[in-house]
Amino acid sequence: MDIEKFCRENCVERRGTGTLKWDSLQEIFGDSDLLPLWVADMEIQSPAAVREALVKRVEHGVFGYGAVENSYFDYFFAWQKKHHKVDLARENVRFATGVVGSLYAAVRAYTQEEASVIICPPVYYPFYDAILNTGRKLVTCELDNHNGYYTLDFEKFEKEIIDNKVEMFILCSPHNPVSRVWSEEELDTMFDICHRHGVLVVSDEIHQDFTYEGKKFVSSALVSNGKYKDILITLNAGSKTFNLAGLIHSHVIIFDKQLMAAYDAYIKGIGSPEVNLMGIVGVEAAFRGGEEWLENVKTLIIHNYNYMKQEFARELPEIIVTPLEGTYLSWIDLRGYLTGEETAGFIQNKCRLACDVGEWFSLMAHGFIRINLATDTKNVVTAVESIIKNIKEKVGE
Ligand SMILES: Cc1ncc(COP(=O)(O)O)c(C=O)c1O
Repeated sequence: MDIEKFCRENCVERRGTGTLKWDSLQEIFGDSDLLPLWVADMEIQSPAAVREALVKRVEHGVFGYGAVENSYFDYFFAWQKKHHKVDLARENVRFATGVVGSLYAAVRAYTQEEASVIICPPVYYPFYDAILNTGRKLVTCELDNHNGYYTLDFEKFEKEIIDNKVEMFILCSPHNPVSRVWSEEELDTMFDICHRHGVLVVSDEIHQDFTYEGKKFVSSALVSNGKYKDILITLNAGSKTFNLAGLIHSHVIIFDKQLMAAYDAYIKGIGSPEVNLMGIVGVEAAFRGGEEWLENVKTLIIHNYNYMKQEFARELPEIIVTPLEGTYLSWIDLRGYLTGEETAGFIQNKCRLACDVGEWFSLMAHGFIRINLATDTKNVVTAVESIIKNIKEKVGE
């Protein structure tokens, strides 16, 4: 693929279009003049099929309450089957207005206040919020970092569960920000522990379509031939895959009848709307016609990753770039050159970049940054050049 041509034809200016990533820099970072590589959406236009379907719907001109048509289920199920070998039926699926909202819903539906919920940092920061903002007790089991490659210490995980009487585990699979695509064996070990100690698993699989280098995403529902379906709530969406986060539309997948009944009862109790009309239209079109687009976007992401990794390896070899197994987010350890305390300020004020910083994901991750690679290559080049130049100046090379 001609990367430059792809970027030229598909990446667009977003500043001034009411975007969180580009237009809220002042509010979030206190500085509007930064290059944003933070929140996980893209500068890449969504697939043509999506844009055409949305335009058609807009031209229809009526935006009354939506309903989900058969065709939505057909395309969604076909995608899940083809890409992830998951068989779904309608009774397993509920709609929601975002995965983060569903994390809160799951915590509230299945646990009482002060119940213990475990997560494995460094991890997507709304996981903390979903536990703390609902008055539950946060239990953490920090992942082990082996020179940039992360694993879970199962003994430590089980001990935290037992010691804290944990009732729920929120899993990130693939794992944002450390990019792990958990193997079936790893998932089996985690779930076996949960099963033995009566812990429900909420599996956030929003990044499931981004895996690389032969890494295969295994949906939690498939582990050990579906053995853990009765402790499982799976969350996914087309929103990361096709850059549709603003359409706030996602899926809650539950196989166990009792778990589904408890979820339905909870949702009924809060009177929450389920379906966003444009979300349905856009995501159905993406599952129908977005496959080739996704392949191209993944090629761009790998290109951006390889470029960044090579540049850092040559110019600043003590930067550790975590292997990109999954997601489009790169986790970078700058502690070879910067102290944990100074990294966030240095990246923002010297390098002029708006990145997610390590401490957002874990109190132990000062000195790390997360760079969003799903963008025009020129943005990655600017960021990498700025980091190299400023670190070199600092260390006096
Ligand atoms: C692991 C994970 N879950 C959920 C979300 C956001 O989901 P939503 O926009 O559907 O609330 C993100 C976005 O970056 C994410 O990385």
